[in-house]
Formats: sequence, structure tokens, C-alpha cells
Amino acid sequence: MRLTKQFLFLTFAVLAISCGRKVSDVDKKVNDLLSQMTLQEKIGQMNQISVGGDVSNFAGAIRDGQVGSILNEVDPVKINEYQRIAVEETRLGIPLLVARDVIHGFHTVFPIPLGLAATFDPQLVEEVARVAAIEATAQGIRWTFSPMLDIARDPRWGRIAEGSGEDPYLDARMAEAMVYGYQGRTSDSTSMAACIKHFVGYGAAEGGRDYNSTLIPENLLRNVYLPPFEAAVNAGAMTLMTSFNDNDGVPSTGNKHVVKEILRGEWGFDGLVVTDWNSMGEMINHGFAEDRPDAAKKALEAGVDMDMMTYGFIGHLEEMVRSGEVKESQIDAAVRNILRIKVKLGLFEHPYINVEAAEKVQYAPEHLAAAQKSAEESAILLKNDGTLPLKEGLRILVTGPMADAPHDQLGTWVFDGEKSHTVTPLKALQERFPGKVTYVPGLTYSRQERDNFSDVVAAARRADVVLAFLGEESILSGEAHSLADLNLIGSQSELLKALRATGKPVVASIMAGRPLTIERDLENCSAMLYSFHPGTMGGPAIVNLLTGEANPSGKTPVTFLRTVGQAPMYYNHNMTGRPYSGELLMKDIALEAGQTSLGNTSYYLDYGAYPLFPFGFGLSYTSFEYSGISLDRQEYRAEDTIGITFTLANTGSREGTEVAQVYVRDLVGSIARPVKELKHFERITLAAGESRTVKVELPVSSLAFFGLDGSRKVEPGKFQLWVAGDSASGEPVEFEVE
Ligand code: GLC
Repeated sequence: MRLTKQFLFLTFAVLAISCGRKVSDVDKKVNDLLSQMTLQEKIGQMNQISVGGDVSNFAGAIRDGQVGSILNEVDPVKINEYQRIAVEETRLGIPLLVARDVIHGFHTVFPIPLGLAATFDPQLVEEVARVAAIEATAQGIRWTFSPMLDIARDPRWGRIAEGSGEDPYLDARMAEAMVYGYQGRTSDSTSMAACIKHFVGYGAAEGGRDYNSTLIPENLLRNVYLPPFEAAVNAGAMTLMTSFNDNDGVPSTGNKHVVKEILRGEWGFDGLVVTDWNSMGEMINHGFAEDRPDAAKKALEAGVDMDMMTYGFIGHLEEMVRSGEVKESQIDAAVRNILRIKVKLGLFEHPYINVEAAEKVQYAPEHLAAAQKSAEESAILLKNDGTLPLKEGLRILVTGPMADAPHDQLGTWVFDGEKSHTVTPLKALQERFPGKVTYVPGLTYSRQERDNFSDVVAAARRADVVLAFLGEESILSGEAHSLADLNLIGSQSELLKALRATGKPVVASIMAGRPLTIERDLENCSAMLYSFHPGTMGGPAIVNLLTGEANPSGKTPVTFLRTVGQAPMYYNHNMTGRPYSGELLMKDIALEAGQTSLGNTSYYLDYGAYPLFPFGFGLSYTSFEYSGISLDRQEYRAEDTIGITFTLANTGSREGTEVAQVYVRDLVGSIARPVKELKHFERITLAAGESRTVKVELPVSSLAFFGLDGSRKVEPGKFQLWVAGDSASGEPVEFEVE
């Protein structure tokens, strides 16, 4: 008999544990609150409204319990007042979630995210996000719509500026860094809920045209576009935003497969899912929803919790519950996710902010120092004939539309950074070289057209070196700002050509929101430093790099095209059945050439098969050499770890930092696999002449992919592995997985 009792106890215990996790204190509070809420109060939590929107009586809507989150209010006094109404004038006193797009800094502005990715420095990017959270939360913002994780393979797409480029592995490491930075490693008053967006595939907009349809098949979705989001969910991202695009005809905001089945079902995401701005209502435009009630129902069924600016939930859910079209349990699930965030952020205990303290942390010296460091690390040296670093005592001509552009230097998605705090290259140069700098703009903004530069040319003749600051106004990248021509806009290339004709050394410093097609400009300069809009401290950062006080270490997070006609072009492409093997280019073709004597491989007759600069590329003032690349074994099992050893030497004359990159190719799979994929990177700083033997442990499991049968696993076979300073260099070593 004893045995039976023990057996029963054991069975019960196993059942109790297997039936579900221990209900956490957070969930206990959430469920307790939910049990007291009316249907109207629940639906009110699912509604986010923006100041400047069309809600006339903002305070009234809050007082009536119709608002769960407010967007775009940054006045701490007003935020406290709205919060007071929610907490003290509604029946249950549920605090508001106060949201803002804090994309690359709040007041202190950092390089745009594409620039942060160019640092290949997750630790630095976490510090950047932490500073953004400290400044924003001090002012009352507790939810940011960042990081943006959209893989971008087409630089015509203006929002390439906001993400981490073309590679899933780099994107995932940046995503983790920003989630940790925004939310903090422990939750406190400076924790700001991250929002990973735009879920999913938004960057694959056809033609690089924003909001356009995407056509991403399941394996590509699983192997390229989803991994960064999964990494961010595993890093603890508290919220996620659905994207505007339809993928294969299904708008993300109504896409059960990606939101309910993958995000919620497979990954166990229990955070808050918010739509993008009216992306629920836009399902009517897509022709996917009949009307607003239908759109609201489709979004709710897909797993969306909160509606940004469609008023679909607040306007129609109550009647749909009454009519039985929607179950109240569906509402409860959404409201639990919302309340869970508010509890985790401690909003119930501390809903208000200290208005007096808000100002103190903005633009703090250590924040500006972090901004300068990130701007230094994000810049990419693309060419240098020895003109850089600048020697002392030179007479310097400064020219170009970006030399003194405090607004445009900040880049896209800057709502709260003030141009009055921007330090431009001109200002930094005048301070660094008093009395040695002449400034003749030549062009005062990037789009300006001009056909005569006699004033600038005359000034160049009197100088020892010319520094031309070129690029894009900030409005020319970002949301809805796709371009069909990626050449330097306006007459900037003509200015550079005129300066080159003087015979003086000309350094081009580019500030842009994307990789522009700058091949012809490279021919017209002695050196080129490329920054993706570098933010508040871009000026001192660029000057430190030009003088050599800082040594460039940035690497391209996206492929740089020779011409826009090559788009989309990215390093981790498939081999195809006809890889390019050196076929003739148009300029080499004989007249009346026979039809079959040409090409027959995958390339362009006019521009060939290669980009201007590959992913992962960047020069330094010193040089590095890789040698002794070896693996600890030749054969591995799926559960093993690959021991990689290599030696990196600084073969130049000054200290420098190299981003060593490890790429792998799976030679044969159940589906064709990319020619190589980034699997590891690390920044290594070496003194002149120093060499270091480096060991990398690479789990074989990191080679897993979703194959023909739709499951993620490592498939046995032969692999190649590279260790190099960019995605196009180095020789592979081989290994096998049993
Ligand atoms: C915009 C963007 C999104 C942003 C949101 C709120 O349309 O697509 O990234 O977070 O609206 O401003």
C-alpha cells in the first residue's frame, strides 16, 4: 500500500510541474488585476494613442479608461499629468506605458544604427543603448520602438539606415546588445522596454521601395529574417512590433503563422505585441481585411495585443465580444501581456518621474564621450594613399555640404536630439587647428546643383590639403525615403572632381544614411572615410580619425555596390548553378561576337559580378596579417565544438584594432546553402609589430539551418571555414560533420 501512496504523490508532483510553470509573482499580480477589470477597461489597455493624433480630448480618453499607452509626449510635466489621471482618476489606477522612438539616442544622438553595426562592437552598442535609456527614462519614456532588426539587402530602401545591415549574425548580436542596454541587466527606474521591429521581413520590400510587398519563402524566413528576432526574444526583449509589409500576400499584422505560431508558439514569447502605426487599418488597403472590425479581428487572432493608431480594438472589440464573434478570453490574453510589461517596469509602484532631475542627465559629459567613441568606431576607411593621417602644420581647406550641417549630421529618426548640441567637423577642425582652416562650402546642402566651383578651386590652390565633407541630408534616408539613384546627390561629385583637378591631396569624408555608389568619387580623392550619419559628436570623432589620434576600425555592415543596378547584392548569397568565373566584360567584347561565346554565368556584362566593397571590409592606418589558421580536428559530431586557432599580426607602424571574422560554408545541403555565412567576430587590438594567437570555440550547432524538411538541424557533410578581415578574403580550411 505504501508504494501506491508514494507512486500517487510522485505522479501528482510530476503532473503539477508539467502542467505549467510556477505562477510568478508578476503573473499573480497580473491575474489578480485582470479579474477585477470590466470588458471596457480591458479593451482600453489595448489602445495606444499619440499626441498630435486625432484624439481631441487626450486627457478625457485616459480618464475614461480608453488608453493603455501614449506615444510621442516627451514633456515630463505633461507625462506626469497624464499618468496622474490614469493612476488617480480611473477605477483601477492602471498606469500608462509612455512610448517614443528612441532609435539611436534620446538627446545625445549616436551614429544611426547602421553606423553602430559598423563598429562590430556589441559591448559598445550596449553602452550606447544604456545611455539612451538613462536620458529617455529620466524624462518619463519607458518604452522605445527600438531595436530595428530588419535585414536589408537593398540600399535603395531608405530604412537600411535604421537596422544592422545584411547579415543575420551581426544583426542578432546588435539586437541582443540593444535589448540589454535599453532594459538594463536588472529592472529599475532606468529600464526602458525594448521593442524589436518590424516583424517580419520588412527590409525585403520589392525594389527597395518602402512598404512594398515582400516574397520571402519559409526557409529564407527561417534562415535569414527570423534569427535576429529569436536572438532578441532570448535576450529578453519585452515587446515586438509587427511590420507594414505583406509577405506572400499576408500582412504581418494579421499573420498568424509568424506571430501566433512562431513567435508565441515556438519561441514562447510572452511579451507585448504592438502593431505599427495604423498597420491594422492598412490591412484594408492591402485587401486583406474588409473593414476596420475585420482588421481588428484578424489582428487579435494573429496574436496582436495593442493597436497603434487604428482605433480598431477600442472601436469594435466590445461589440464583437457581445456578438460572440470574439471571445473575452482572447482579450484577456492580450491584456495579460500588456499588464505584465507594466508590472515588470515597476510602473505600479513608481508611475511618476522627478521632473527636476530629468534635465540633469541629458547630454552628460560621459554620454557625449560615448557618442564620440561610437562615432569613431563606426567610421570606415575605404581608401588611403598615405594622405591620412594628416600631418601637423598643414593649411587646410574645408568644403562640402556636410562640413557644417548640425541637423543633417544627426541622421534619420531623431526627434529629441537638438542640433544646437551637434559638434560639426568644421567646428572641431577650427578648434584643433586654430588659424590653419579655411572654409569655403562650395555647396550648402547635399541636393544643391552648381556648375562652377571657381571659388572653392581658388581656395584649394592656396591650401596644402582639402577636406571635402559630402553625403546625404538626413531626410534622404529613413522611413518612406527610398532612392532609385544612389550616386552622391546634387553636384557633389562635380565638386570633388574640380578639387581633384587642382592636384592637391583631397580627403573625402562621407556622411550618409546608406552605402552610396561612390566608385567614381573614390577615383577623385586621395582618401575616403565613410560614416553613416555619426550623430552629436561626429565632428570631433572624424577629426580624431583624420589626424590619427584614433585609428579607423569600422567595417562595412552592408555590401557597397558599384552601381544601383546591381541591387540587391549581398555576401551570403547562394552559389547558383553558374557562378561567375571571370567571363568577359562588355569592354572586352569583340565586335560581331558570336552569341554563345559570351558569359553563360551569373554576372553583369557592364559591371561584372562583384561589388565595390564586400561586407565586413574596412582599412586601418596599420596593416594586419592572418596566419596559422587551423582546427583542432578534421571531423566533428553535431554536439561538438570546433576549436579554431589563428595568429593575427599587426604588420604596420602603429596600434590598431582589427575585426577578425569567421565565416563558414556548408558545401552540400538538403537545400542550396550560401557561399559563406558569418559565424563569429571579435575586435582585436594589437600594438605595432605585435602578434597574437587567438582561439575561437565554435559550436557545431551554430551551423544548423532549416532545410527541406522544415526542421532546424546540422546536416552531415563537408564544410569550409575562413578567418579573415572581410567576407571576400582568405583561404578556407576544410572540416567534416558526421
Ligand atoms: C512608424 C515606423 C515605426 C515607428 C512607429 C511609431 O511608422 O514604421 O518604426 O516605431 O511608426 O513612430
